[in-house]
Amino acid sequence: MKKPILVANWKNHPASLPEAQALLKELNKKKLLYKKLALFVAPPLAFLESTAKSVKSFGHLAAQDFFPEEKGNFTGAVSPEILKSFGVKLVILGHSERRALGESSEEVSEKVKSALKAGLLPLVCVGEKERDTDGEHFEKLRDEIKISLSGLKKNDIAKLLIAYEPIWAIGKSAKDAIDPHDLAQTILFIRKVLSDLFGREAAESAAVLYGGSVEAGNVRALMLDSGVRGFLVGHASLSGSHFAQIAEDLTTKA
Ligand code: PGA
Repeated sequence: MKKPILVANWKNHPASLPEAQALLKELNKKKLLYKKLALFVAPPLAFLESTAKSVKSFGHLAAQDFFPEEKGNFTGAVSPEILKSFGVKLVILGHSERRALGESSEEVSEKVKSALKAGLLPLVCVGEKERDTDGEHFEKLRDEIKISLSGLKKNDIAKLLIAYEPIWAIGKSAKDAIDPHDLAQTILFIRKVLSDLFGREAAESAAVLYGGSVEAGNVRALMLDSGVRGFLVGHASLSGSHFAQIAEDLTTKA
């Protein structure tokens, strides 16, 4: 059986390298627990070099974004090749906080193709701003998936991860996360969209994660019968003890 996937998205935290190192020290204490998972940690770019060795002792290094060109004069940009040179394995793409800064689904699709070409594992984030009673958000979700994954072949779907992250649920608390029943329904919908685009086999092979106020208090309920392969965790990944509890719940779900 495949290991559950857990991705820690540190975003723009912690505020200093010593704090990042202290957090890694905490995480390292639960090394054996994390080895039961496919664990990825995405620190801020500036901490990549100093955190790489430590992260790799219990998981895999990840990045929160990148620039899709291999080389060239692009001031401020960081290419997949540079990330790979630090040992980065996964890159979060199309996070709603990047989309809020103007990133379009077309740009996300370029990044996905570039990551696949470079041999990085793309974690493609999709999710609606709000839910409406007439189900219009499903159409928006369909369009976002369709454009973000445009130009891919059916075989590519097994080489990427999808994170369903409803924007309204991000950065709150366990009780504000999606209802497990709605999550199961949305995961089915995502598979249906993937099936229409890439065929049934590809849709079934797709690993879909959930993100948005995942905490120790809701992991079990969100995992049970929802069809998710794991979680993308923001604020709760900044506490060693809280994150360990999430990992514990994830590995003992049965
Ligand atoms: P959250 O963030 O866990 O703090 O809701 C998740 C994310 O934005 O990836």
